Amino acid sequence: MVWKDSLSVGIELIDSEHKELIRAVNELFDACMHGKGRAKISETVTFVEDYTVKHFGDEEKLQKEYKYPDYPAHHQLHQTFVNDLKSYKAQLEKDGPTVQLVAKFNTFVSTWLIKHISVEDKKIGVYIRSIEKK
Ligand SMILES: [Fe+2]
Repeated sequence: MVWKDSLSVGIELIDSEHKELIRAVNELFDACMHGKGRAKISETVTFVEDYTVKHFGDEEKLQKEYKYPDYPAHHQLHQTFVNDLKSYKAQLEKDGPTVQLVAKFNTFVSTWLIKHISVEDKKIGVYIRSIEKK
């Protein structure tokens, strides 16, 4: 995963938190390239789980401050991600870090992040800037 300016939502705090999430996922990709994905996945899942508490919290606080009209739907998207992450964690605890699980998690987390940032989070940036101009 590569951070590109096209992923910027135009809010410094949110961009820096997105970069941190992408960095963590890239560390897992790197580990996979070196045959160490199975040893690394648990650390990555735990990191993403902990970090999204802060990140989704910051993002939702902004949405509430600016009375973002799509806040309930956005909150729901975050909640679904949190639940999916929980089920990965449960699978990891049940079956251990299988190659299949690592591959599935890589696809899930990278696809979700890119899509969520470039579609949903961008809308927040656009909305906040439109308010600030008034
Ligand atoms: Fe978001």
